[in-house]
Amino acid sequence: MSEYSSKNPYLGEMVEKRVITHPDSTKETRHIVFDLGDSGLEYKVGDALGVIPENPAELVSDLLGLLNFTGEEVVETHLGETSVGEALASHYEIHRLCKKFIQGLEMKFSSTSPKISVRLVGRSRASTNGDTNSVQWDWSGEEQDFPEGFTPVGAMSDPSLMLWESLVNDPDAMEDYLWSRDYIDLLGDMPNLSFTPQEFVSNLDRLKPRLYSIASSLDAHPGQVELTVAIVRYNHHGRDRGGLCTVYMADSAPLNEKTIPMFMSPTRSFVLPQDGDTDIIMVGPGTGIAPFRAFLEQRKFDKAKGRNWLFFGDRTSTHEYLYGEELNDWLDDGHLTRLDLAWSRMAEIPKTYVQNLMAENGEEIWSWIDGGAYFYVCGDKFRMAKDVHKTLINICEEHGNMSAEDAKEFVEQRMMKQEKRYLRDVY
Ligand SMILES: Cc1cc2nc3c(=O)[nH]c(=O)nc-3n(C[C@H](O)[C@H](O)[C@H](O)COP(=O)(O)OP(=O)(O)OC[C@H]3O[C@@H](n4cnc5c(N)ncnc54)[C@H](O)[C@@H]3O)c2cc1C
Ligand SMILES: NC(=O)c1ccc[n+]([C@@H]2O[C@H](COP(=O)([O-])OP(=O)(O)OC[C@H]3O[C@@H](n4cnc5c(N)ncnc54)[C@H](OP(=O)(O)O)[C@@H]3O)[C@@H](O)[C@H]2O)c1
Repeated sequence: MSEYSSKNPYLGEMVEKRVITHPDSTKETRHIVFDLGDSGLEYKVGDALGVIPENPAELVSDLLGLLNFTGEEVVETHLGETSVGEALASHYEIHRLCKKFIQGLEMKFSSTSPKISVRLVGRSRASTNGDTNSVQWDWSGEEQDFPEGFTPVGAMSDPSLMLWESLVNDPDAMEDYLWSRDYIDLLGDMPNLSFTPQEFVSNLDRLKPRLYSIASSLDAHPGQVELTVAIVRYNHHGRDRGGLCTVYMADSAPLNEKTIPMFMSPTRSFVLPQDGDTDIIMVGPGTGIAPFRAFLEQRKFDKAKGRNWLFFGDRTSTHEYLYGEELNDWLDDGHLTRLDLAWSRMAEIPKTYVQNLMAENGEEIWSWIDGGAYFYVCGDKFRMAKDVHKTLINICEEHGNMSAEDAKEFVEQRMMKQEKRYLRDVY
């Protein structure tokens, strides 16, 4: 058992972060290698590596500037007392807004402009008794709920408050706002807000480690761990932004320095069959290829005799054929019995996904499964894995001569739960 964990990470050394998509690709996927040094860290194929990123230094200093903090102010965090500069760099997620922070602004608005002090001005009635046009009513809290003939002025027309109200009262507007903004955008949109350092950090999301399926076998790469990482980059409201950990690894993490906090996240279920003679079918488009590269390296090292069938796919064969040379070599030397490639954005051929190729090869897939093959899926949980799941059931129904209900039961109960030979690593 290693002494390292998410709470006590090892400071690993990144030794490679090579882009493995074509320079003209619309995606940036990298092969990232860490040296495990004298850590004693070990892993088996199927495990994941946890990486603990840092926020970009420029984002931290811009935010400190906007908040009028020096960075030295001391704050209390879930990890103990530290400077606000350190807290924003490595204790909290500041690259995307979180709902809790926006909801927590209620305290700000109620302290600077309590709702009960909203001043209403009568639109049509003149004051007859020399008093102001004041009125008492039970306010529901809804923006448009005012007594007939009155409109709000003052606090209610404060644009920051109006924006805040529109967000907390409309979940879709909230999601929409959060999707493309960070704290710099929020401070621009609500310029009259001010915070103490402690107030600011109190409602931020804690910085979470990210997991990456390991793309190597330790036997094939002693002392190293390798990843296949799709770098998340986008531009909103005129600023380049991106995923916290992927941009950290691509842009900020230094090479050849033992500075990157990491830990192993072992799997109990996503494992190779114990018997190397067992056939395996692997479906892993995009970065879903990662654990299957590791599986193939391990089965080669172990001289496992079972057949290996890989379904891989990505946008184009020319720009996103990840590990193309290795896969072609394995096909040529027979280590890969079958390799089926689904390209989704080649102009000259219709969009093809891995499940389309599965369906075309249904009879053969069924014969492997009927013979005891393991079936693995890795990659996108929300779309690909669901479609592959449905296709697998259809294949069992059609080629295994089962009713739709029996095929579902066979895949979901027997293969998945009882025999544990339908295994998924999806995210
Ligand atoms: C078990 C496991 C294994 C994994 N293996 C791998 C792997 O092998 N390779 C790999 O690359 N990833 C893998 N992941 C995913 C990985 O953990 C991270 O979630 C991923 O790298 C993104 O992290 P990030 O910090 O860069 O992005 P984050 O800062 O977490 O941001 C990602 C979020 O950004 C948002 N987003 C994306 N595009 C846009 C946009 N255009 N505009 C606004 N918001 C947007 C989405 O909400 C998305 O959820 C795995 C995850 C798990 C759980
Ligand atoms: N739900 C999500 O928001 C989501 C899901 C997956 C990945 N991502 C993010 O996208 C980035 C890149 O991920 P990645 O490199 O692993 O690749 P990916 O985006 O999962 O794409 C890999 C291949 O899968 C195809 N694909 C899309 N929908 C599919 C479906 N329903 N069934 C089968 N294949 C499908 C893609 O085609 P087309 O793109 O041409 O359609 C592409 O050819 C990562 O940052 C990841 O976090 C986001």
